[in-house]
Amino acid sequence: MDRRRWPTRALALVVASLGTLAAARAADVALSPPLRAMRWIAPATNAAVALTRAPHECVREPKTPNEALLVEVGRATFRTPVVLGGQAARAGLSCDSCHRNGRGNPDFRFPGVSGAPGTADVTSSLFSSHRGNGVDDPKPIPDLGGPKAALKVSQAPDDPDLERFLHGLITEEFDGPAPPPVVLKGLAAYVRAMDPALCPATSQTLRSRDWMADADRVVATAATLAAQGDQPGAVVMLQAARARLGDIDERFAAPDLAQLRTRLRDADARLATLAQDLRAGRPGTRPALAIWRRDARALAADLAAHEPRSLFNPARLSQTKNRRLPANPS
Ligand code: HEC
Repeated sequence: MDRRRWPTRALALVVASLGTLAAARAADVALSPPLRAMRWIAPATNAAVALTRAPHECVREPKTPNEALLVEVGRATFRTPVVLGGQAARAGLSCDSCHRNGRGNPDFRFPGVSGAPGTADVTSSLFSSHRGNGVDDPKPIPDLGGPKAALKVSQAPDDPDLERFLHGLITEEFDGPAPPPVVLKGLAAYVRAMDPALCPATSQTLRSRDWMADADRVVATAATLAAQGDQPGAVVMLQAARARLGDIDERFAAPDLAQLRTRLRDADARLATLAQDLRAGRPGTRPALAIWRRDARALAADLAAHEPRSLFNPARLSQTKNRRLPANPS
């Protein structure tokens, strides 16, 4: 739930030291879009459509319990900024920001990284201290759910190319720390499980209930990994669940939804504590995770009941402005 808003705050402080608090507030408002994703959609895009709908995910049924676990890990990781490092993570970008539900993103435009909407230069030095090639060469964001033959990197089950590519993507292009082994295997399993035959042409409406279900799945996956003794993997999963809660939190920003936000933040704080417990090898995390899941179900129902007043509602979202941020958001 880290909003990473220090530049905004830093600027607000400078302005405040010059004089009026009112001016500081104005600066804060002018620089913070209501949703982080507004930082990476093209200015001409209708945010009320682009940020309340998404293409369907097209993932086939896993064949074995082990594959099912890896696909869950990959699915969670795919939606979590912490796996990417540096500028991308600071801005809140995850794989899913570019490959929405594994597909492309025709509206993606990140200043300094994109050319035309729907493109990105993943060798851009903005994201990478390793690979920045000094050449501005944005490429169309590929649809990972599209025909495999149209993709460049082999996804054959026994070919390690995909794992190698993803490792390079995370550690070199996005400057992230090397992820725990299960996370890399999971991402590869998730990408391999995408099947064009299962991609419906229609898009889906984003719902808080589905995102709470995502968080629930991820916490269940954390419990499984913890039971297998994979604490680093379990910790990444808890970070993923917290990121999902953060995505919901920013959409429940209206003052009259403050009570729900408090509950979301409590749920987040509990996961943060559980992650510390896991890191420290303290016992009792599994029953605590089960209790968290039970409580989160009640929260999901209350969030859903208040969703029309949140920024999941296109009408509410269109009342907010898509304000442009400076090119370098960190
Ligand atoms: C800033 C946008 C962006 C982000 C974030 C991003 N990608 Fe990509 N991805 C791209 C672009 C653009 C390409 C095409 C690069 C090229 O053609 O050279 C690509 C290529 C790929 C490919 C290869 C497709 C092929 O042709 O075989 C895979 C797999 C992939 N990305 C997975 C991921 C995963 C997993 C993550 C998160 C760890 C991720 N991407 C994050 C933009 C992004």
